[in-house]
Amino acid sequence: MVAKTKVKKVGILTAGGDSPGLNAAIRGFGKTAIGHYGMELIGFRDGITGLVEDRWEPLDGKALSGILTVGGTILGTSRDKVHKYAVDGEPRDMVPTVVENYRREGLDALIMLGGGGTAKNAMRLVAAGLNVVHLPKTIDNDIAGTDTSFGFATAMEIATDAIDRVHSTAHSHHRIILTEIMGHRAGWLTLGAGLAGGADIILIPEIPYTVDSVAATIKTRLQRGSNFSVVAVAEGARDVDDAADYAAAELLAGSAKTPEAQRAARAHLAHVEDLQREHTFKLARDLEAATGLETRVTILGYVQRGGTPCAADRLLATRLGAAAADLVARGEFGVMVAARGEGTEAVPLSEVAGKVKLVPPDHHWVTAARQVGVGLGE
Ligand code: F6P
Repeated sequence: MVAKTKVKKVGILTAGGDSPGLNAAIRGFGKTAIGHYGMELIGFRDGITGLVEDRWEPLDGKALSGILTVGGTILGTSRDKVHKYAVDGEPRDMVPTVVENYRREGLDALIMLGGGGTAKNAMRLVAAGLNVVHLPKTIDNDIAGTDTSFGFATAMEIATDAIDRVHSTAHSHHRIILTEIMGHRAGWLTLGAGLAGGADIILIPEIPYTVDSVAATIKTRLQRGSNFSVVAVAEGARDVDDAADYAAAELLAGSAKTPEAQRAARAHLAHVEDLQREHTFKLARDLEAATGLETRVTILGYVQRGGTPCAADRLLATRLGAAAADLVARGEFGVMVAARGEGTEAVPLSEVAGKVKLVPPDHHWVTAARQVGVGLGE
């Protein structure tokens, strides 16, 4: 017997960078929505793109079967913004089109699986009157309002395994190896994998480093007889000067008033980003010069987002998906289903969109790193 709800038909999509666990979450939501509540489910293709173009496929029990362990997203994804959607190369507000498509398909709700950018898109659709529930996905673990997001645990496993492997080669060749780890402008992934993998030095965006400090840690290790070092470097980590330049450019971009000033400030920010793009290679050159040790760089890149989700992500995605179906059935919208301990909590999207969860400098992972003697480049 199916449980009672007024909701009949629901759409679901995945948006932003893909992340292990997306299919597990689609399945968790879908099985509960269809099997437990008797809803009908359709999946929009390629994130916001499919929503704008009204491209979707029906999702039934058969479509949801066998996807729990599959990496990526069966629906496809994109990084499109609903209010600045590229039409003939020009940004256009497609919210009215999406509202039209939502009504045409007779939807009662829309489930959006994504990160911070998706939360902002979701807010815009909520403001236009749609019933939206957001599920937190990202390997970066930087979504505000939730303990964690699915994809993070898997990516941390992959990055930890990489650091483990890098250890034996760094040790054999007496080299410094810098392993660059994703995470956008947050250090969670690098800090977590760096600690779990026993990196000698961990560099994260929240703690700008100096080359002198990193080199000093490596030299101290040399004096103690360790003629190799493994450095976990977040893609967003910067030395103190670059971090100051970036912060100033970001502030300018956020405070510019006129459209002309905004364009100029955005162009300046992009220029600063461009100048800092190869920072890990620059650090490698500086450390080689400062320590005399041969230095190599390994960029983990998209390997961290690929493949089957680990058990923790499958479990998280399944329980968030099932909890989202409960919210929809009860008619609770405009929220993100947050992970809260072993449970879940509905957090208003206004408390999520436009915010980023960074590593607090006094976080217990940071404290533990210092206590076990990891260099943080300070
Ligand atoms: O947000 C996930 C993430 O993998 C970040 O860690 C990284 O900075 C970014 O996406 C890469 O984006 P893209 O897939 O657009 O190259």
